[in-house]
Amino acid sequence: MAAITQVKPITGVPPHLSASAAPQDPAFYQNPYPFYARQHASHPAFFWEEYGHWCFADFKSVSALLRDKRFGRDILHVASREEVGLPEPKPHVTDFDLTEKFSLLNLEAPAHTRLRTLVNRAFVSRQVEQLRPRIRQLAHEIIDGFEGAESVDLIKAFAAPIPAIVIAEMIGLPAEMAPQLLNWSNRMVTMYMYNVTRETELDANRAAAEFTAYLRDMIAERRKAPREDLLTHMLTTDRDGDVLSDDEVISTAILLLNAGHEATVHTTGNGVKSILESGLDSQSLFATPEQAERTVEECLRFDAPLHLFTRYALMDTEVDGIALRKGDVIGLMLGAANRDPARFAHADRFDPFRTDGANVSFGAGIHFCIGAPLARIELQEAMGVLFERLPTLRIVEPPRYGNVYHFHGLERLMVGWR
Ligand code: HEM
Repeated sequence: MAAITQVKPITGVPPHLSASAAPQDPAFYQNPYPFYARQHASHPAFFWEEYGHWCFADFKSVSALLRDKRFGRDILHVASREEVGLPEPKPHVTDFDLTEKFSLLNLEAPAHTRLRTLVNRAFVSRQVEQLRPRIRQLAHEIIDGFEGAESVDLIKAFAAPIPAIVIAEMIGLPAEMAPQLLNWSNRMVTMYMYNVTRETELDANRAAAEFTAYLRDMIAERRKAPREDLLTHMLTTDRDGDVLSDDEVISTAILLLNAGHEATVHTTGNGVKSILESGLDSQSLFATPEQAERTVEECLRFDAPLHLFTRYALMDTEVDGIALRKGDVIGLMLGAANRDPARFAHADRFDPFRTDGANVSFGAGIHFCIGAPLARIELQEAMGVLFERLPTLRIVEPPRYGNVYHFHGLERLMVGWR
């Protein structure tokens, strides 16, 4: 979901404002926090050499720039590809590109406002609140399946299936399809990695074509027999006569499955790790709904699942004395902003009782995560059931993060309970 854009290097950066950290270096992505602490202490706005663009690590700037209309996730509504040096679309990934064309994440106002308004109703808190019992039921069923086992990989066995089934059912796709949907989704998101090969691109395109064909069939079924699900809602919702096209519905359904899955899985893994490593009494952290909310917010703050998002400057402009040209990319460091000592007391301490305010793990501004209410409920219920059922849960193997810096999540989390 978080494509990192590499841009042409900018010359003339004062050396003291330039910093180096290789995103593909295991020592860095296993623990990026010492680098963040150094930048907070020296220059929270700095030129990140490996990415070749300016980045912002402090909470105030990240929060403000996410809301700043001078910047956008897309640039092609105000500039041509040639003007900003973007490559032409590749003919062998047209199916993939079509699924991206109407993605909320690739649109800016007014196209974004229209699509988001039409989709948003399904995600407001009072709608997703109704899903709490189903999420608890899923968590219980999975833990029932641990009977007789000594240890499990919590990512694969617990964290991954819950959000996949919940979003599939919400859209109106059968839970049994969840593994296939994840297969398509995982193959498609490889397009956001570094140095993507042609093979990978072809495979991602095949996955996009298969996923699209499947959704077209489901759309045809819903047109014949509408149901109480998000797919039907997207097909029939209308605002002053304006309705979504099939391509828009397909893009949105795929985005919801892709975006709605990975970050929630990673937050579950990172959160369970933070709680177990803190040595705090895990059950008491979910003892009341209010405390469960606070605990989940602290999990999101302390070890965010998505660390870096980019924006384009939509015009020639300046931030903190840094001159930016139209089309320049900036990096907004969510994971670093959440650890800003100027914003959070004892920022490097996991403290689920803290009351010092909101984090930026779900972003801010017009692209603020549409699934935040759903993700929060999934995390509160799934982790609550986990610690209620397995109060002696412990980590049995040193956890390791996966090798993609901006998706900050564990490869596996081996836990035992005996
Ligand atoms: C802990 C879990 C999650 C985290 C940390 C997270 C984080 C984010 C962030 C940071 C953004 C904004 C990106 C930007 O500004 O460039 C975003 C956008 C989005 N998220 Fe999430 N997300 C999570 C779960 C979900 C879920 C469960 C869904 C849907 C079921 C979802 C759907 C979306 C969509 C559709 C967008 C694009 C919104 C727009 O552009 O208007 N996310 N998410």
